[in-house]
Amino acid sequence: MTLKYHITTFGCQMNVYDSEMMEGIIASRGWERAASEADADLILYNTCVVREGAEQRAMGRLAQLAALKRANPALVVGVTGCMAQKEAERLFEALPHLDLILGTRAIPRLGPMLDRVLATGERQVCTEILDDSFVADVVPIRQRPLKALVNIILGCNKNCSYCIVPQTRGREVSQAPEKIIAEARTLAEHGYKEITLVGQNVNSYKGIGESGEPVDFGGLLRRVSAACPGLRIRYITSHPRDCNEAHISAVAESSGVCENFHLPVQSGSTRVLRKMYRGYSRERYLHLIDRVRSAIPDATLSTDIIVGFPTETEDDFRETMSLMEAVRFDSAYMYMYSPRSGTRAAADHGELSIEVKKARLAELIERQEAIQAEINRNLIGTRVEVVVEDNAPRTPGDLLARTRGDKMVIIPGPADWIGRLMEVEITDANGHTLHARADQGAGDGARNGSISVGGETSLSHCS
Ligand code: SAH
Ligand code: SF4
Ligand code: F3S
Repeated sequence: MTLKYHITTFGCQMNVYDSEMMEGIIASRGWERAASEADADLILYNTCVVREGAEQRAMGRLAQLAALKRANPALVVGVTGCMAQKEAERLFEALPHLDLILGTRAIPRLGPMLDRVLATGERQVCTEILDDSFVADVVPIRQRPLKALVNIILGCNKNCSYCIVPQTRGREVSQAPEKIIAEARTLAEHGYKEITLVGQNVNSYKGIGESGEPVDFGGLLRRVSAACPGLRIRYITSHPRDCNEAHISAVAESSGVCENFHLPVQSGSTRVLRKMYRGYSRERYLHLIDRVRSAIPDATLSTDIIVGFPTETEDDFRETMSLMEAVRFDSAYMYMYSPRSGTRAAADHGELSIEVKKARLAELIERQEAIQAEINRNLIGTRVEVVVEDNAPRTPGDLLARTRGDKMVIIPGPADWIGRLMEVEITDANGHTLHARADQGAGDGARNGSISVGGETSLSHCS
């Protein structure tokens, strides 16, 4: 009888990629994906602890698995990801039905650990930080067609005072550029239209090329773009401190790299940024945005913001609001500060009340939504390049597409346009979605792979 697995993923792109690798490892042992947890012989939770809410959600769901385990004692239950790395001992104590704990940098150990649980029924744990924790020789099982994640750097060497990630992901290790390029080429050959290079800090990438030469993030973008004409290249997350001329000019000059900068600012107050250990001031961040915009005038910009950091005053918060006005981000992820034990900020005094944090977050979100709706409405009447990704979930007959700037576009059209790159005209917009129409015959042109964008033919295969 074929054994079946079920994986639930919380958290960021790193976890999504890790789940795809783990799925590759498990499937290579002959297991199949289960339709639901109730149908599975192995249940894995790939967890996140970046904020308290994420941790509580995972703990709640894991506790509920006790009933499934009672009904089927042969079921293997495992926790992986950042909670496994940080809380291994506490988890085994709190959850007696847990069989397996695997840290973020020990994924290559998953196969042998699984074999041992099945053979002996004994609990297995590994939270070792393996020197080379990139998983070799495993083909990840990707969650989506057309768009794929490629991990270029593990870990985080920064030290932001609020953040638990450096403790859960270890020190940085960069993947070799040739391996990244080979993976990008294979993906393009298999029909993927877009890759996203992922890491906690992609632009602190420090690869070593075949001849021993150092390759920085800008160099990597140029190499991947040159090796894979026609493939859209995105990356997440880049740190403002590591966003240098080499990075910006590589985006400006590489036709495959999308002109979208996600640069988490966290706060608009230099005083708070200093307490966060972010390594830049408000002024330096704003200067960086000017440099990006002067190099790439139509670049889209997005950010992450934390409100209610300990001791944040009303004036500090006003500075965050005014920075949002000054930059006018195309989108923003906005969070209330969540104390994480083991971080320096959690030991600080000056924690704000939940009411203050909530009020500040609501005000920030309201203003940001208005700004992004204005930005999007200004696009009405313009023409943009999109890749058609899927059927629209709510409106039959419509398709879901995405611009180079990472905006979602709804276009009416037949399902066989999915996977095509085409130019469309924006007809309507709100804060979250653009509506567009394709030209008469646009679909036919795309079918032949001959839509011309910016003077070059963009639907070619990887060389
Ligand atoms: N490495 C990336 C993002 C890491 S986590 C970077 O530095 O930009 C993603 C986002 O979660 C962060 O940008 C931050 O806005 C948020 N975050 C991290 N720790 C947090 C905490 N303790 N409370 C609230 N938000 C937090
Ligand atoms: Fe966390 Fe800062 Fe590292 Fe981002 S750069 S993962 S916020 S420590
Ligand atoms: Fe969460 Fe770990 Fe990512 S804490 S945000 S899953 S690095």
